[in-house]
Amino acid sequence: MPVNHKYILASRPKGLITPDVLQLHESPLPTLEEGQALARVKFLSIDPTMRVWMADIPQYMPPVQLGEVMRSFGLAEITESRHPDFKRGDKILGLTGLQEFALVTRQEARGFQKLPFVPFLSDNHFLGTLGINGLTAYFGLLEVGKPQPGETLVVSAAAGATGSVAGQLGKIHGCRVVGIAGSDEKCKWIKADLGFDAVINYKHPDWKAQLVAATPGGIDIDFENVGGEVMQAVLDRMNLHGRVVLCGLISGYTREDPAFASFAQVLMKRLRVEGFIILDYASKFTEAVKQLAMWKMAGKLKDKQTILHGLDKAPEAINMLFTGANTGKLLIEL
Ligand SMILES: NC(=O)c1ccc[n+]([C@@H]2O[C@H](COP(=O)([O-])OP(=O)(O)OC[C@H]3O[C@@H](n4cnc5c(N)ncnc54)[C@H](OP(=O)(O)O)[C@@H]3O)[C@@H](O)[C@H]2O)c1
Repeated sequence: MPVNHKYILASRPKGLITPDVLQLHESPLPTLEEGQALARVKFLSIDPTMRVWMADIPQYMPPVQLGEVMRSFGLAEITESRHPDFKRGDKILGLTGLQEFALVTRQEARGFQKLPFVPFLSDNHFLGTLGINGLTAYFGLLEVGKPQPGETLVVSAAAGATGSVAGQLGKIHGCRVVGIAGSDEKCKWIKADLGFDAVINYKHPDWKAQLVAATPGGIDIDFENVGGEVMQAVLDRMNLHGRVVLCGLISGYTREDPAFASFAQVLMKRLRVEGFIILDYASKFTEAVKQLAMWKMAGKLKDKQTILHGLDKAPEAINMLFTGANTGKLLIEL
């Protein structure tokens, strides 16, 4: 009898994911009712927000409840359908959950989209550069950051799925782009292959002096993915009326006492700090994906993926985001 394997949130993590947090369960595949479809998950998107969803704190979606399938984005293929909008073989994107099969109910169907077709690009790009990460970089930089040619843009977690796109979009829009990342290898990739103007490995002892040297005219836009000490060093270099695109604060997601950057520079430099959540821009996704796909096909957006294999890699994969073990988009192929 065919079964589904799924990860249930069994306890709330303190720090990184430990074996008691996510438990692997097995259940029979459901018999479809009218209006339902069943989809086999092909790729799982591993995102820092999953660690936020595990915590019982106020956030932009309800936290995952104990005993529920762990929430995640994924790409799946319909294997059986009694839903009018989906047929066998259709590929879909949406909140599949950390499991092998996702049930698409009438109620949940609006949360799933059919995969667009773009020639010469593999499907899993729609979970990264042409998916949530590319869109986050696009709307965060262009609508919140509003880059102008000649401005200096600093991007943190710059070799990650979102940061690597944000930096390249900064180059496309004529900025001088400085990336901050956690290894020399990552720094080499974003400078040599992605065209960043300067790079800083924040694990080097003199990285703050390097940041000063790399931003002689100060910083106009901070595309902030990290928070804490990294954000503070960037805020200290901001120019008058600079913009802080508050995309993420990953350095705090696994900590009970996240280190915050001080508001002092926000006041002194009259900065505009704006947090945003990509879901707010959903009505404009189609146009943005077309634009990102054009840049991708023109060779202006390069990317890397770190792909693990097998559902059982999910707990380890989530932790990789917090130890910096991924470069570019982190995916699990099932
Ligand atoms: N606002 C939104 O709607 C939205 C949507 C998507 C993502 N985000 C945010 O964007 C950020 C990046 O997400 P992503 O999905 O693209 O992940 P990612 O950048 O591909 O992976 C996370 C990276 O963060 C870096 N990192 C982890 N802990 C760190 C620490 N303590 N200090 C400095 N760097 C650290 C690591 O790279 P290093 O090796 O460089 O340390 C790691 O590879 C996250 O903050 C996420 O929450 C926001």
